[in-house]
Amino acid sequence: MNLCVKVLTLDIFFAVTAPGLEPFTALELSRLFPDLASAPVDSASSPLRPLPGGVEFRGGLAELYRANLHLRTASRVLARLGMPFLARGFDELRAKAARLPWEKFLTPRQPVALRVTCHKSKLYHSDAVARTLASALADRLGQPSPLVKADEEAERPPQLVVARLAEDRVTVSVDSSGTILHKRGYRLALAKAPLRETLAAGILLASGWDMHSPLLDPFCGSGTIPIEAALMALGIPPGINRRFAFMDWPNFDEQLWQELHHPSSIVHGRAAAPPILASDRDAGAIQMARENAERAGVADCIEFSCRAVSSITPPPGPGWVATNPPYGRRVSEGRDLRNLYAQFGNVLRKKCPGWHVTVLCSDPVLLGQMRLELDTSLALINGGIRVRIGRGTVK
Ligand SMILES: C[S@@+](CC[C@H](N)C(=O)[O-])C[C@H]1O[C@@H](n2cnc3c(N)ncnc32)[C@H](O)[C@@H]1O
Repeated sequence: MNLCVKVLTLDIFFAVTAPGLEPFTALELSRLFPDLASAPVDSASSPLRPLPGGVEFRGGLAELYRANLHLRTASRVLARLGMPFLARGFDELRAKAARLPWEKFLTPRQPVALRVTCHKSKLYHSDAVARTLASALADRLGQPSPLVKADEEAERPPQLVVARLAEDRVTVSVDSSGTILHKRGYRLALAKAPLRETLAAGILLASGWDMHSPLLDPFCGSGTIPIEAALMALGIPPGINRRFAFMDWPNFDEQLWQELHHPSSIVHGRAAAPPILASDRDAGAIQMARENAERAGVADCIEFSCRAVSSITPPPGPGWVATNPPYGRRVSEGRDLRNLYAQFGNVLRKKCPGWHVTVLCSDPVLLGQMRLELDTSLALINGGIRVRIGRGTVK
């Protein structure tokens, strides 16, 4: 079968990401599925399409399972339920939605959380759309499914179904991930203003770290950036220790999952990670970071120390600094942080000449205090706040 025909027979999936992370999720998918990346990217049937809020890709169950297991920057992976359809009235919505193959993913009477968004559509009342979809689901499965609230942080959340109405076109998707993917299972202890694991992985991908050179995080807090770096360098899949919603689907292929999850099918990175140094001036944060790294199984790869940024001792480089210093609205609210950023810039010039630096911060003025030439074009959302990633080289 030629690639175009093969692609059209595959299921459609959507890896949801935080705004700004789409190019990095696309990069991860292209590394995971090189065949998809080699196909043309400009048509609607392209097998790998970055879109606002995520990346659409095509595949079968193996690709769906591998995406959940391996993607470091995605928040969840949705599976499209049938093809999108037009609906301008509730009767039409119910009749057409009842033709979707719900039984592939849901069992009768299973509690379902429905998340509906309506945009420029005749049907604009999202609760009424959710109730109609629940009726369609009952028509299809022969029994009603109780509607429950979504709880994406829970350990075993109810099955989430996402429906999007845009210009009367209805797209229904079933969530395959369950608990949101940034929950890797290792981070129980949280310091002040912790980063989501998915964003920490995004910072590392944005930094261009080669996974061979030293990596330094002098404001490590609960250790998210160094832990994600060690997992990446060692090729440990972020989802190795967790369960996924697709494991409860009627079409779950246990044998396929066991094969994909087996250590022999996991492409490993290196046997040992390069030097990864993590420090913070707060002893409590370092203690939490150590405990998190233990749970992630990478404590041996990270050198933790309790120290202020002024007394960091980088290994021979050049290497990469990837970090998330405090920024006004989350840590040290109201305090003037300009001196800290100016000091950070001075320390880097003195101790890390030639190193690559990547800094996440909400405030371009603070980044400017570092007096480094930083490219700040990459904007993301962290905890509801618009943040920038500054990237450059210490000169
Ligand atoms: C935004 S938090 C980092 C969060 C971290 N990325 C995480 O995921 O938990 C900033 C950290 O910088 C630390 N910090 C503040 N001033 C510092 C200084 N002068 N030297 C070293 N660490 C400092 C704080 O203790 C805090 O843990």
